[in-house]
Amino acid sequence: MEVDALLQEISDYCRQTGLAESTFGRLAVNDGKFVNRLRDGGRITTGTLQQVRSFIATHPEPRGRRSRSFIVDKAQSGAVPVPRIDAGSFSSVGRPLPLVPATPEIPDVTETKSRNFRFYDNRQKYLLFVNTCSEKWVVAQRVAMELSNLHPRPPAIRVFDAGVGDGTVLTRVMRAMHNRFTHMPLYVVSKEISLEDVRLTLDKLPDRFFEHPSTVFVITNMYYKEAPWLVPQSVSAATSLTWHELSLSGSTSHDFEQQITALQPFLAENWRASMSKTSGNPVYERPTVLVIYRDDHKFLLDPIIPRRGGTRADYDLVIASQPYRLRAPVEFKAEKVIAPLARALGPGGRLLGIHSHGGDPGLEILQGIWPGENPFKHDRHQLLKAVKRSLAGFSRHLNFNAYADARSIFRYDMHTLPSEISESIGTSTLLAAWNDAVYVGQIEDARLEEVISDRRYLDATREVLQRHGGLWFYDESYVISRHRE
Ligand SMILES: C[S@@+](CC[C@H](N)C(=O)[O-])C[C@H]1O[C@@H](n2cnc3c(N)ncnc32)[C@H](O)[C@@H]1O
Repeated sequence: MEVDALLQEISDYCRQTGLAESTFGRLAVNDGKFVNRLRDGGRITTGTLQQVRSFIATHPEPRGRRSRSFIVDKAQSGAVPVPRIDAGSFSSVGRPLPLVPATPEIPDVTETKSRNFRFYDNRQKYLLFVNTCSEKWVVAQRVAMELSNLHPRPPAIRVFDAGVGDGTVLTRVMRAMHNRFTHMPLYVVSKEISLEDVRLTLDKLPDRFFEHPSTVFVITNMYYKEAPWLVPQSVSAATSLTWHELSLSGSTSHDFEQQITALQPFLAENWRASMSKTSGNPVYERPTVLVIYRDDHKFLLDPIIPRRGGTRADYDLVIASQPYRLRAPVEFKAEKVIAPLARALGPGGRLLGIHSHGGDPGLEILQGIWPGENPFKHDRHQLLKAVKRSLAGFSRHLNFNAYADARSIFRYDMHTLPSEISESIGTSTLLAAWNDAVYVGQIEDARLEEVISDRRYLDATREVLQRHGGLWFYDESYVISRHRE
């Protein structure tokens, strides 16, 4: 993990200072190939690590560039810092000011450097990816297939989403749950450290409260080992815990939307994060829990509404969709992410894990530019083995289901118009395809900047799209289930 975080730190530093990675290596440790070696799995001594950190610390970016203060886009599975947007960046109606032009243009490197053009910031990649591919729909379908295997017990069905992202998967799953468990109370806890993702998720909730009134929805910025129980582990974090309950009045989705939108100042104040100087991981400024339910159902929901100071986890369903960075060591993915989630399962509960698999046209695009590139380091079999090791004795309560490829691996596609690929492919389609391929491959920004100075990346993308008549990707899934006892 240290290496992953360090690479990200170096990428960010190079992006902000405009240094090429090779120059950085030469200056910091007198080795132009240092970053490449590190990326290829090379080891690093504590001394070299200190040299790199001290170079970054003692060579801050040139004056006049943007401040190096970050909010962190994603959960602690990997640091993906993006420039901080504080409450001051919001317009009077509480909407974020636009960060990219409405129509993406071909990114121009000169412009990138001189005006901090943000097309390749991770956040924009995520949003473009979510909206140009069917992945989150297909993931939600895969999660919905698990519903028939659940055995919920009164007073509610309990669901945990381990990294809610923009909320597309979770709200689709909640619709499927309403369809199957129409009259059962629903307790949903979600974890998300990115303020912008929290905002996007909450935006999708008013209709859920309208259609399924007996819902308690909880969102928190806590870590994997804390969030399922809604309890911070350190005493100092516990004393700074912010716990906010929103009891929605009224009965229409418009009523709910207004009250949820009014949370913006609360979110801006309480969903702050920064990057840990020691580990490079995202850390919350203070732990926060937001609990939302309908006031007219408060009496019925009373046994489900979580109380400050500790709740039971005992989830019937845990969703772990893309919860870690692909290149993180398998032990990190197992110990820090999946093992704590497995411990949070109730009797009969099921954890569905999903990550990118590779072996698809998306990977061919990457390999067209970086021959031999393969970010898909660990498959589900390796991961499950590592989770079992990490859980030690507790694993006797669990089944680890890797399934056959036919059941585990699924495909999703980039949305295209019927005639788009056979005729000449428009630039915006090529840009979307390239974006999706580099997003799925989790290619660092500094590497991207090196290759977008000419059109080779667009040519490579076009070639793959034309050869396959479209673009698609594979994800793989696995289930950890707890015995019913
Ligand atoms: C965005 S979230 C996942 C949130 C949510 N569970 C979802 O599936 O949208 C956490 C991390 O997953 C990565 N990610 C999301 N979708 C991915 C995909 N299809 N392939 C590879 N990485 C992905 C991003 O790098 C991000 O940092």
